[in-house]
Amino acid sequence: MPILRKDKIRPATGKLAILTPGIGAVATTFMAGVLSIRKGLAKPYGSVTQMATIRLGKRTEANSPLIKDFLPLATLDQLVFGGWDIFPENAYDAAVKAEVLRREHLDQVKAELSAIKPMPAVFDTAFVKRIDGPNKKTGSKWEKAQALREDIRNFMKQHGCSRAVVVWCASTEAYSTPIGVHASLAAFEEGLKKNDPAIAPSQIYAYAALSEKIPFANGAPNLCLETGAMRELARKNQMPIGGKDFKTGQTLMKTILAPGFKSRMLGVSGWFSTNILGNRDGEVLDDPESFKSKEVSKLGVLDTVLQPDVYPDLYKNLYHKIRINYYPPRGDNKESWDNIDIFGWLNYPMQIKVNFLCRDSILAAPIVLDLALLMDLAQRANMFGIQEWLSFYWKSPQVAEGLYPEHDLFIQQIKLKNTMRWLMREDLITHLGLEYYDMLEGQEA
Ligand SMILES: NC(=O)c1ccc[n+]([C@@H]2O[C@H](COP(=O)([O-])OP(=O)(O)OC[C@H]3O[C@@H](n4cnc5c(N)ncnc54)[C@H](O)[C@@H]3O)[C@@H](O)[C@H]2O)c1
Repeated sequence: MPILRKDKIRPATGKLAILTPGIGAVATTFMAGVLSIRKGLAKPYGSVTQMATIRLGKRTEANSPLIKDFLPLATLDQLVFGGWDIFPENAYDAAVKAEVLRREHLDQVKAELSAIKPMPAVFDTAFVKRIDGPNKKTGSKWEKAQALREDIRNFMKQHGCSRAVVVWCASTEAYSTPIGVHASLAAFEEGLKKNDPAIAPSQIYAYAALSEKIPFANGAPNLCLETGAMRELARKNQMPIGGKDFKTGQTLMKTILAPGFKSRMLGVSGWFSTNILGNRDGEVLDDPESFKSKEVSKLGVLDTVLQPDVYPDLYKNLYHKIRINYYPPRGDNKESWDNIDIFGWLNYPMQIKVNFLCRDSILAAPIVLDLALLMDLAQRANMFGIQEWLSFYWKSPQVAEGLYPEHDLFIQQIKLKNTMRWLMREDLITHLGLEYYDMLEGQEA
C-alpha cells in the first residue's frame, strides 16, 4: 500500500463551496444547521467529523483528539452553500415548505438562507415523474452539462471559493442500469451530444462536477456514479467519488441490529419493514420506478451483512420485505415498523419489533456535512476514485468492480477511523491488548 505523506495533504486554505443539486428537505436542513452551529446556536449532533474523537496510539497513552482537530478539515466558517433546484424559492422559503425545522430556528439564520438562490436545474420528467417546476435549463444534454460547468465556475468566482464539493440531494430518479452509453467517457460524451434518453440528470451533474475537477457524492439511490464513464472520468481528473443513498432511518437501524445477530450466531427467518412518510421525497417514491431504485438500495443491506452463502443454516431462508407508503399528514416525520423473526438455540423462535419515529432529514443533514468535508480532504490528499472508506455513510456503498460492499456499520466505522489514522501516518489500531505482547515476550524468552 503506498504511504501517503501527511505533509503532502494540501491545506484547507480558502473557502469551500458545498453545492447541492436539490435544495429540498435534506439540503436546507443541512445548510440551516451549519449556519446555526456557526453562530453558536446549536451543537453539531450526529456529525462524526465535528463531535467524535479518534484514539491514537495505545490506550495507556490516553490520546483521543476530536477528529476535527486531528484531520486538516475545512472549518465550518470556511463553508459557502449553493445549489440547483427546479423550484426557484430561496433556501429559507424551501426550508419553510419542507417543514423539518421550526420557524423559530429558521428565522435565526433567515438572512443567510434567503441569500441562497437555486440555479436553474437540469431536469427530466422521464426520470422523476411526480414533480415538475419552472426553474430549469434548456438545450441539449451536452449544452446543459456545459451550463452546469459554467454555474460551478461562476459560483466559485462570485463567492471567492478555492475549492468545491458537489453532494446530490435531489429527488430519487427512476431505476436504471448502465448500458452502452455509460460504458466509457467517450461513449457518454457522444451520448450527451446526441441527447441519449438513457442519460439521467444526476449523471449530467456528476459529469459536470468531475469535469471541473470537483468531487461528487450521491445521496440518492439512483444510478449516477456507478458507470464506466464516471469511474473513468474520476480517474482521469483524479477526483474522489462516492455513493450511494445516505444511510438514515430504517436502514441505519438494520445495519446496527443485523451485525449484532450475526456476531452471536442468531438466525433470522424474516424481516418485514414498512414506512409511512409524507414529504416530497415520499411523494416521488410513490412512483413505482423511483421506489424501485430505493428498494434495490435497501434490500442489498441484509444479504451482505448476514452472508447467507457463508451461513446458510442461519440466513438462507430469510424473507425480507420492504414497503414505503406515502402518507402526507406525517410530513418529514417518518415512522417505520420492523418485525424481525429470529431464532436461537434448538431453533426456538423469537420476535423483535422496532418502531422508529425518526426525522429523516435530521439524520441526513450531518451526513451531508461529513461527506462534504471528507471528500474535500480526500481530494487534497490525492485520493481519487471510489472512496470505500466512506461506506459508513451510505445505504448502498459503491465499491470497485467485482467487490462486494461492506454494510456492517461497525466494520465500516473501523475502516473509516483506520483510514483517517493512515492518512495522518498514525499506527492503525488492531485492538490487540498490550498483555498479549507481554505474553509473547514471555514465550520467546
Ligand atoms: N432524508 C433522508 O434521510 C434521506 C436518506 C437517504 C437518501 N435521501 C435522498 O436524498 C434526496 C433528497 O431528499 P429530500 O428529503 O431532501 O427530498 P426533497 O423532495 O425535499 O428535495 C429534493 C429536491 O430536489 C429537487 N430536484 C429534483 N430533481 C432535481 C434535479 N434534477 N435538479 C435539481 N433539483 C432537483 C426537488 O425539486 C426538491 O426540491 C432524495 O433523493 C432522497 O431519496 C434522503
